[in-house]
This record gives sequence, C-alpha cells and structure tokens, in this order.
Amino acid sequence: MKPTGQAPATVSITSGKGGVGKTSLAVNLAFALADMHRKVLLVDGDLGLANVDVMLRLKPAKTIEDVLLQGQDPHCALTRISDHLAVLPGSSGVPAMVAPGSEKRSQLTDFLTCVMAGFDVVLLDTAAGIGDDVMWFNTFARHTVIVVSPEPTSLTDAYAVIKILAGQYGRNDFKLVLNFIENAEQGRALFQTLHQAAQRFLNLDPKLLGTVVRDPKVNQAVIAQTPFLHNTPGCPAAASVRQLARAVGALAADPAV
Ligand SMILES: Nc1ncnc2c1ncn2[C@@H]1O[C@H](COP(=O)(O)OP(=O)(O)OP(=O)(O)O)[C@@H](O)[C@H]1O
Ligand SMILES: [Mg+2]
Repeated sequence: MKPTGQAPATVSITSGKGGVGKTSLAVNLAFALADMHRKVLLVDGDLGLANVDVMLRLKPAKTIEDVLLQGQDPHCALTRISDHLAVLPGSSGVPAMVAPGSEKRSQLTDFLTCVMAGFDVVLLDTAAGIGDDVMWFNTFARHTVIVVSPEPTSLTDAYAVIKILAGQYGRNDFKLVLNFIENAEQGRALFQTLHQAAQRFLNLDPKLLGTVVRDPKVNQAVIAQTPFLHNTPGCPAAASVRQLARAVGALAADPAV
C-alpha cells in the first residue's frame, strides 16, 4: 500500500448499548469501502472482547496487545485482507487491556498514528459501554458514529454517550447510524426522538449518516464468519451498507465535513 500523503479520516463506531450491530457494521463497511477502492484500516477497539477476527475467521499472528504489552513492532500487528483492506486485531480476555492507563493510552496514540499512515479511512470499532477505553477511541477519532437500534434502551444509551462526549470531552459533532430498521417510518421516528433530545437538552445537531435494515442475512453471515456484503451481496443489509459506505467515503474525501 503506497502512502496517499493525506491524513486518513478516522471514524469511531460506538453505541453505549451492547449488541446493536457495531462490529457487524464496521466489518461490512470496511469491505464496502475497500470495494470502492478506499484504503481501509479496521481497528478492533474492543480491547477486552475482540470480535472482528472472529467475524472474519482470521487467525491473527499478532494483536494490539502484542504491541502494547509485549513491545512488538506496530506494523507486525496488521493482518492484510486485500490490497485495500487491513485489520488491526484486538485482544480477548486480557484484563490489562480492558482499562489501559494513561501511559498505555499514550502508547496507543503513537501506535495507531504510526500504522494508519497511508490509509484513507480508519474505522475504530469500540466496545459497548462508557468506559475510559471506549471514550479514548471516540476522542481519538475525528468522526463519531453512534449506532442506535429501535429498542428504548439503545436510544437512552446512545443519548448518554453523546451527553458524556459533549459534556466531558467537548465533542459536538455526531453522526447517527440507525440499525435493525424495519420500515422508513420507524427510522424517521427513531432519528427524530434522538435528534430532538440532543437538540433540546444538549444544544446539539446530530446528523443522520445512514440506515441499515433488519435482515436475517446479517446473523447468518456472522455464523458463517464472512461479511454479508460478500456472503449475500444482494441482501437488503448489503444495499444499506453500500449506501452507508458512500456517506463515510464522503467524510474521507472532505476532511471539513
Ligand atoms: N441489521 C441487522 N439485522 C439483523 N441482525 C443484525 C443486524 N445488525 C446486527 N445484527 C445482529 O446483532 C447481533 C449483534 O451484532 P454485533 O456483534 O455486530 O453488535 P455489537 O454492537 O458489536 O455488540 P457488542 O456491543 O457486544 O460488541 C449479531 O448477532 C448480528 O448478527
Ligand atoms: Mg462488537
């Protein structure tokens, strides 16, 4: 991969609530952007319970842990999928990785800055919750994408993440991805509810980045350990993700967006 010379667009994918589709969307979005000839680095930022390698049936030789805890060469930790796509796998079941202290976080900054050179887009899939590690990835990234599903608990958790990132970290630019959407009316109502709360109580104007339909092919692809984008390219969720990739691609094309 030759360096493009331009700083990559860094995009965190977060939600507060677990199980709303962050990793499924991050993985498939990475493939969709690579299909659009973007150079993509997918970072598994779920430092305690990494899932990206499992979803892609990867057997990574090295992970973020090997670099942060064992001092290995950062570039050795990348798993190349194709000419346009690389994965930085996370670790699983390593307590020291769950809440990295300030020294480790500063190493992580250097490490990511070093490996992401030459990529157009860096997708950072975060863990659920509002832990320090989750907030770290969200503030490292230039763009914060909040994945929200129609469940009321997802809505309240998404609002809580936005409130913390705005109130404690000074972030004011949020992009929403609605997942598990059954029809256009449901999507509109979900966006309106979250947008109104953010506007009224936090004086924020979160933007709608995309909508992904509820589709059984997503789960089938997780079980098959392949991206649904390639497993069942004609499925409704694949069409949603390709559209989402165009919106994310626009962020990469225009750093001012
Ligand atoms: N659009 C969708 N339609 C149907 N099922 C979906 C959709 N998106 C995600 N899923 C399913 O939801 C489950 C959770 O997805 P995923 O692991 O991507 O969520 P997550 O937010 O990353 O979870 P965690 O917070 O635990 O990391 C999976 O079984 C996945 O197949
Ligand atoms: Mg996940």
